[in-house]
Amino acid sequence: MALLEILEYPDPRLRTVAEPVAAVDDAIRKLADDMLETMYAAPGIGLAATQVDVHRRLLVIDISEDRSAPLVFINPEILTAAGSAKNDEGCLSVPEIYEAVERAEQIRVRALNRAGESFEMDADGLLAVCIQHEMDHLEGKLFVDYLSDMKRRRLKKKLAKARKREAGAGARQAL
Ligand code: NI
Repeated sequence: MALLEILEYPDPRLRTVAEPVAAVDDAIRKLADDMLETMYAAPGIGLAATQVDVHRRLLVIDISEDRSAPLVFINPEILTAAGSAKNDEGCLSVPEIYEAVERAEQIRVRALNRAGESFEMDADGLLAVCIQHEMDHLEGKLFVDYLSDMKRRRLKKKLAKARKREAGAGARQAL
């Protein structure tokens, strides 16, 4: 396995819309494994292929405390969405920034797993937030896009300062 470089906002490559995965082959499985390793090392709880500059519809998630529940979603689709909830989100591509974003509270998602088999899953809470956040990445969208222009300008300044500091990994979870 290998650690991959994570693109950081405002890198324009994060705006690329990902293409569907045509076949779940060994190359895709290696990408999923490398993405999981990269996500755990960051550390984060979710990572989309877009963030490692591979523009295919693939994301990995593990919201467990002990890295025991890796999930791979290939060509994910949201089948149903209900309710709404506002939660603080962070992102490995937007280091040290956490802001509240409103999203659907419960979703049902369909995707292919690492073996190329179709599955459906109901998600709520942090998992629902994480799936929606990562699926946005595949559309070239970032959580900061939901914020007001004024707030985003402030974030850009804060981010520039944070980069200068090159602070270590924060204690909070990034997606
Ligand atoms: Ni993210």
